[in-house]
Amino acid sequence: MDTEEFVATFAVERSGSDCLKWDALEERFGDKNLLPLWVADMDFKAPPAVEAALIRRIHQGAFGYSQNLPEYFPAFAAWQQSRHGITLAPEWLRFSKGVVESLYHLIQIFTKPGDGVLIQPPVYYPFFNAVRDTGRRLVENHLVQTDEGDWRMDFENFEKLLASEAVRVFLLCSPHNPVGRVWREDELAELFRLCEKYDVLIIADEIHQDFDFSETGFVSALQVAQGRFHDRLVVVNAPSKTFNLASLLHGHILLPDRRLQEQFDEGIKPLSQSENNLLGQTAGAAAYQKGGEWFDGVKQVIRENYRYLEQQLKKTAPKIRVGRLEGSYLVWLDLRQLGLEDGQAVAAFVKKDCRLAVDFGSWFSSATASFIRLNLACPPAIITEACERLAAGVAKLAAE
Ligand SMILES: Cc1ncc(COP(=O)(O)O)c(C=O)c1O
Repeated sequence: MDTEEFVATFAVERSGSDCLKWDALEERFGDKNLLPLWVADMDFKAPPAVEAALIRRIHQGAFGYSQNLPEYFPAFAAWQQSRHGITLAPEWLRFSKGVVESLYHLIQIFTKPGDGVLIQPPVYYPFFNAVRDTGRRLVENHLVQTDEGDWRMDFENFEKLLASEAVRVFLLCSPHNPVGRVWREDELAELFRLCEKYDVLIIADEIHQDFDFSETGFVSALQVAQGRFHDRLVVVNAPSKTFNLASLLHGHILLPDRRLQEQFDEGIKPLSQSENNLLGQTAGAAAYQKGGEWFDGVKQVIRENYRYLEQQLKKTAPKIRVGRLEGSYLVWLDLRQLGLEDGQAVAAFVKKDCRLAVDFGSWFSSATASFIRLNLACPPAIITEACERLAAGVAKLAAE
């Protein structure tokens, strides 16, 4: 299915459907008339197989307690195997209400109040919240930018912090939201070697794993050094980003090590006692079984949206530096050359001059207040409009 056909088939009007992205603009941005390119979900319907499976369930009409669906693990495992070459064992898998909830639970289970938890800003802001809200100590190893604008990890500082800050857990974002990096295996292996040296548990958030546009290819933490680090590794992911299912509140925790499984099963007891989510599992199983073609279609739309945006802004607003898209459908724009004073000035420019709602760089790190994150998982017409608005905003700024 080419882009045009995909968009004609799956683009959906979400405004007026209690959708956070479109309907919470007044509440979140103080202006309901902005063009929304913020929160990470898509303006597309989920794969047809998901809709059909949910309708079948809903038509039965009974929503009592359910058991785990027997087809779930085989479908999930087959996807991981065929798309990424990852081999999963059924005993590794636990379900959760989503990746963010998993992070909160895992931090509480595997650390004590006051323990250090290391994150690498700029990073998905719930990483900060998960550490702070659980009373753990935030340890920040900032990513660094090369002269070419690419993002790298600072291994030297990483080790320094592990050695001095009593870090018990490292929260890895892979691929990395918002900078969009797909980490290479050698980069992951170096991090994990250091975690081994200082006896640190790795929690790898791989929710964006399927949106791989990189040259080197996504490598799961589970695959690094052929699984050598499994005894200090927990991976969290979900079908929600891949298939646009976020509101069904369903995610995975993968624990390849027996000792960690036992610790998790004991530790989760006081934190969560809920049964599994029938509709989340139903949707996930159908998506993994039959959503491959749909996913290839949406990935193509994202790729083309990125290409357009990159080329267009180069022509019409060259002061905006467009980040490289390797993993995820979120593009990171560097506005530093516009000379805006601070995060407040960036927000005013984006909202008032460009009429856009985006994720602001200040949400991901105080050091990236002059960046913004745009969501590319939408029809091309929205990206065209966003480019026009950005160019008009920059022109207005230049005229002032
Ligand atoms: C890195 C990362 N982790 C987790 C999530 C959210 O996961 P969930 O909705 O399952 O809590 C997102 C959503 O954008 C994300 O970017």
